[in-house]
Amino acid sequence: MLILIQFDGDVDYRSPVELVVTGQIPAYAAGILYRTGPGGCQVVTEKGTTFTASHWFDGFAQVHRFEIIAPSKPSAQTKVFYNSRKTVDKLIENIRKSGSFKGFTFGQKHDPCESYFKKFTSMFTPREADANVNVTFSIDLPGLPSTKSSKKEGGGHASGIQTLWVKTDATVLKRLDPETLEPIGMAQQTNLHPDLKGAMSAAHAKSDPVTGDVYNFNLDVGRKPTYRVFHVSASTGETEILATITNARSAYIHSLFLTENHVVLCVWGSYYAYGGAKLLWEQNILDALNPLDESIPSTWFVVDRKHGTGVVATYESTPFFCFHTINAWEEPSTTDSSKTDIVADLVAYDNCDILKKLYYNNVKATSTGSRDFVGKKGDSARPAIKRWRLPNIEAKLESGMGKAILEWAAPKSSSVELPTMNFRNITRPYRYIYGVSDTGASTFFDQITKYDTHTHKNITWQYHGQTPGEPIFVPDPKGNEEDEGVLLSVVLDGTKGKSYLLVLDARNLQEVGRASMESVVAFGFHGNHIKSGDGRLDY
Ligand SMILES: [Fe+2]
Repeated sequence: MLILIQFDGDVDYRSPVELVVTGQIPAYAAGILYRTGPGGCQVVTEKGTTFTASHWFDGFAQVHRFEIIAPSKPSAQTKVFYNSRKTVDKLIENIRKSGSFKGFTFGQKHDPCESYFKKFTSMFTPREADANVNVTFSIDLPGLPSTKSSKKEGGGHASGIQTLWVKTDATVLKRLDPETLEPIGMAQQTNLHPDLKGAMSAAHAKSDPVTGDVYNFNLDVGRKPTYRVFHVSASTGETEILATITNARSAYIHSLFLTENHVVLCVWGSYYAYGGAKLLWEQNILDALNPLDESIPSTWFVVDRKHGTGVVATYESTPFFCFHTINAWEEPSTTDSSKTDIVADLVAYDNCDILKKLYYNNVKATSTGSRDFVGKKGDSARPAIKRWRLPNIEAKLESGMGKAILEWAAPKSSSVELPTMNFRNITRPYRYIYGVSDTGASTFFDQITKYDTHTHKNITWQYHGQTPGEPIFVPDPKGNEEDEGVLLSVVLDGTKGKSYLLVLDARNLQEVGRASMESVVAFGFHGNHIKSGDGRLDY
C-alpha cells in the first residue's frame, strides 16, 4: 500500500468535541490521554512565500487531549472528548512576518547569513515565543512550580493533574494548562539545580515507579563535555547531582535507563562534531553530528542512585545509535550469583540514517525522497530490539572498563519504534514490548507490533491505509497477567483522511473499540495516559 501520510493537522479544537464511539472501550481506560507532536510544517508568509519546516522533529508543536469518561451505568457507552492546541502561536507569527525560523532546531538548516555565534546558554534558552517544545510530557513534575493556574485544577478535575509540562532534548520545559493546553510558562533545568547549566538533556526522563522520583542527565557540550546525572525527589522537590561524567564524548541522547538501584547512561554513536562546538554555527542538532564511527564503541555508565557513590561501573559495547531505551533491571550475575548484572533493552540502529530519513521530504508519500526508503532499501534506517547485559557491576571499578554482552537481537522485521510496555514493570523483568513498525508497506509506520521477549514471536495489527501512532498500554486493574489491558493508539485512516483513537486488546491486538474523529491528528511522537490516583511517571 502507498498511502498519504498526513503531517499537517487540522486547526485546533480549543473547545472539546465529543467523538463517535463504536465497539466497547472498557471503563478502566477512563482518564486523560495526552499526545505530543508537530501539528503542521508550513506557514504562508507576509511576502506571499511559503516557509516549510524540513524535518519531522521541527514541525510546529501541537498537543492533543483525549478525555475518556467511563459509562455511568453498565448499559451505557464510554464517552470520549477531544481538544487540541498548537502551542507555538508566537513562533508561527514570527515566521509569518520574517519568513524564517530563527532559533535552535533539530534538523532545519539555517541561512548561513543568519549564523551567529552566541554563548550556548543564550542559544539554547529560547524566548517563549520561539520555543518549539513538543516531544514528551512530565505530569506533576517535582521540583518545579505548581502554582494552580486552572480554575478546575486541584479539586475539580477528575484526573487531579496539577501541572503539565512538555519537554524536548534541550533543557527547556514549557508549561501548559492541563485542560485548555494553553502555554502558561517556561522553565529550565537550572530551576531544578544551578549546576544543570548545560544545553542538552534527554526528552525521556525516567521515574522510579514506587517513589515517583525523576532521573535524567544534563549535558554541557564543549571542549570538555560534562554529563551531570541528576535526581529530583518527589517527596521534597530537591534536586541532587548523582554523578558528574567528564570522560565521555558529547552525544545526542534521547533517553536513559533506570534500575532499582542505578541510573544507566549509555553514550552511543551519535557524537557531536568538535565536542558539540559545531552546534554553534549549525544551530541544529542533525548537522552538528558526525556519522556513526564503527571504530568508536558505545560507552555505558552505571550510576548509583541510592548511596551517593557516583559512577560504579563502566562498559563498552559495539557501536550503535538509539532513540529509545525500553526497560532495564538488576538480577543475580550469571557467573557469580552473589554479584549483580544489569539487563538493558533498547531499540538500536546500525547507524544514524534514521535521523535523515525523518526529513519530511523522505516520509511524505508524495515526495520523491520517499522512494529512497521504501521496502528493503529502507533497512539501513530500520531498528532492532536488542538486549544487553552489563555483567558483575560490583567488579568493574577495580578492573576498569567492562564489556557489555549482546544477549539477543530481534529481527528488524519484527522490531518496533516508539516502544512502550506495561509501565508497572519498569525496573523489573518483563515480557512484552509494544510499538509501531515500518514494514515497507508505506513510507512511514504502518503496523502496531507486540513483541514477546520470551518466545521471540510477534503479533501485529496492520490494515490498508492505516498509519498508527505510539500505542500506550493501560492495564486492566482486575488483570493478573502483564498484558491484560488495552492499547490506545491514534491512527490516521489514509483512505478517509480522518483520524481515530483505536483501542486494542493488548493480549491479541484485536480491536475492542474506537473513537472516530472528523479531523486529522498529524502524526506525532509520544503520549501519557493519566487517571485519578495514578502515579505520574516519566518514561
Ligand atoms: Fe522519543
